Amino acid sequence: MLMAPAYTSSVYRPGIFDGKVVFCTGGAGTICRRQTEALVILGANAAILGRKKEVTENAAAEIQKLRSGSSVIGISADVRDISSLQEAVDRTVKELGRIDFVICGAAGNFISDFKHLSANAFKTVIDIDLLGSFNTVKAATSELIRNKGSVIMVSATLHYYGVQFQSHVGAAKAGVDALSNALAVELGPFGVRFNCIAPGPIDETEGLTRLLPSGAKKQVTKAVPLQRLGSVNDIADATVFLFSEAASFITGSISVVDGGAWHTGQMQ
Ligand code: HXC
Repeated sequence: MLMAPAYTSSVYRPGIFDGKVVFCTGGAGTICRRQTEALVILGANAAILGRKKEVTENAAAEIQKLRSGSSVIGISADVRDISSLQEAVDRTVKELGRIDFVICGAAGNFISDFKHLSANAFKTVIDIDLLGSFNTVKAATSELIRNKGSVIMVSATLHYYGVQFQSHVGAAKAGVDALSNALAVELGPFGVRFNCIAPGPIDETEGLTRLLPSGAKKQVTKAVPLQRLGSVNDIADATVFLFSEAASFITGSISVVDGGAWHTGQMQ
């Protein structure tokens, strides 16, 4: 359950995404849900994907209530399975008409030292984060090309340096950045843009809850140059910008939204 204040913006104009459709994996989770909410509030319709059917459908119904007249569907799918993604794309196009924006947000994470990290555990995170992002774009490619669409992959900063107990996630997110950069070059001539958002410590998220020892919030906050933790609305604002016309010449970029945290070298 999100505790952060609902998304509002004094910067972005309502209706800027009228007629657009976003397809978001991990859309029932904390960060991706708020990304989707912002786009819906500003005019888009949406399909959110998650592994848990009921959770995903309930989240979709709640997001739909944020703007009267919006359509938001929840689809259960596993990003590791390309055929379930293809079905989800087909259903989205059938019910919502098109796909303009794709958010590759589904991610897996747990803390594990290398000694106890099994080959299958490593592969599981690579499969969800990296192969899952590939599969999502693969399934949506024809829609993205048809509509000169735009993709955001949710990355991280922990592969900019070495973070212990996160070798699986660091490797996966480094791959996500590389995938996005390569596709920006390859699909740029078709009018499709690819960018990553790399969140830093974002309050009230599953990721932070899992990674931060209890009681460490104050210490982390002090270590962030901007002296606060991020909020899901910070990620939503960056998402709105990158999907908007204001970013029409931006592709192959990685937007770090972390209050300057990773530059300090204290986030390990
Ligand atoms: C060690 C673990 C483990 C743990 C699972 N495994 N949890 N190993 N420590 N805590 C191992 C299992 O033993 C198994 O290996 C393999 O991983 C697959 O586990 P399953 O449970 O069978 O897989 P699955 O049901 O597919 O679940 C995968 C999952 C997922 C990755 C564990 O449930 C998950 O991540 N849920 C959390 C979602 C989440 O937190 N999302 C937000 C991510 S935040 P063996 O060898 O036994 O078969 C984020 C931010 C990153 O990504 C940046 C942070 C700074």
